[in-house]
Amino acid sequence: MTTILGIESSCDDTAAAVVRHDHGAMPDILSSVVHGQTTLHAGFGGVVPEIAARAHAEKLDHCVERALADAGIGLRDCDAIAVTAGPGLIGGVMSGVMCAKGLAAGSGLPLIGVNHLAGHALTPRLTDMAAFPYLMLLVSGGHCQFLLVHSATRFTRLGGTIDDAPGEAFDKTARLLALPQPGGPSVERTALAGDPDRFAFPRPLLDRAGMDMSFSGLKTALLRERDHVIAAHGGLRTGDRADLCAGFQQAVRDVMVEKSRRALAEYLTLQPDQPVFAVAGGVAANTAIRDGLTTLCADTGTRFLAPPLALCTDNAAMIAWVGIERFRLGLLDGMDLAARPRWPLDETAAPQLGSGKKGAKA
Ligand code: KG4
Ligand code: ZN
Repeated sequence: MTTILGIESSCDDTAAAVVRHDHGAMPDILSSVVHGQTTLHAGFGGVVPEIAARAHAEKLDHCVERALADAGIGLRDCDAIAVTAGPGLIGGVMSGVMCAKGLAAGSGLPLIGVNHLAGHALTPRLTDMAAFPYLMLLVSGGHCQFLLVHSATRFTRLGGTIDDAPGEAFDKTARLLALPQPGGPSVERTALAGDPDRFAFPRPLLDRAGMDMSFSGLKTALLRERDHVIAAHGGLRTGDRADLCAGFQQAVRDVMVEKSRRALAEYLTLQPDQPVFAVAGGVAANTAIRDGLTTLCADTGTRFLAPPLALCTDNAAMIAWVGIERFRLGLLDGMDLAARPRWPLDETAAPQLGSGKKGAKA
């Protein structure tokens, strides 16, 4: 039996969790505490790194105490402490690493540095014990990439965004239409009553081979269509907003489904015994996108896995889980563990362009 305390502070959520696993059984999330910072950054139109780092430093101890109390165990009942060591906003990552080092020094427990993206990528094992290799689409406010997950330590990046992450595009769309943040849920709700074909949105990079995606042009197209409507009618009517949201969402969905079709074809050449396509990240909550991917998987006999939303978005249970996988492989770190702002999962893939409001996309 392995029990690990996980700590996460790479963006705007301070989180701690305890996960326990017995060989042959399903993993058990004994506790998962997430303290968000949305209100702290609300007035700034994005995450402010200095504010985030200070808030993490203030909240980490409290989150760890609560995670242990909720789990009903003490620190000494854990086998190791796993902490996100990157990629992310460096001040926040450093706060988490310092906190973990303090706990490790005080308790004598081993320390395990975890790649935040590995946390998302290995979540289908935490939730469903998915067998390797599987295909993962990570789509959130800060990430967008297709990964072949070969093992707990080996990932191949098939492609991803070359500019904005899709969540950012949803958030910007909401801002341009004066809808509430976070943009994803409000755009999705507004789109329900809309006509996706009224406005002609582009389908960026579909004409290009491969699995890279681009979302910044969609935002520009939305701005242009919005301004045309305002010029013609003197303002936006409810129906205009609904049609703009529906058209935008349909374009994102079409691009994601087509690029997923290509990623799936590549994945299936590995001839996995039980093919699995898993999604993670806040955008995976979008019903239209989920439905498109579900149909795609059904067509190829692939199991589609979408973890519950609390495990799709940033949390520390996924970090604790990577800790368990690494602990079993003997991959421990020392007190020289460094915080890394950029840390691609696939070190062989070409570096990505751009860096979104939530930091490096790696
Ligand atoms: O994974 P997440 O909570 O945070 C990080 O980015 O790390 O993802 C948040 C993003 C936001 O940009 C939000 O607008 C988007 O996920 N999102 C959605 C939906 N729910 C959340 N996007 C589209 N449709 C949704 N229903
Ligand atoms: Zn994340």
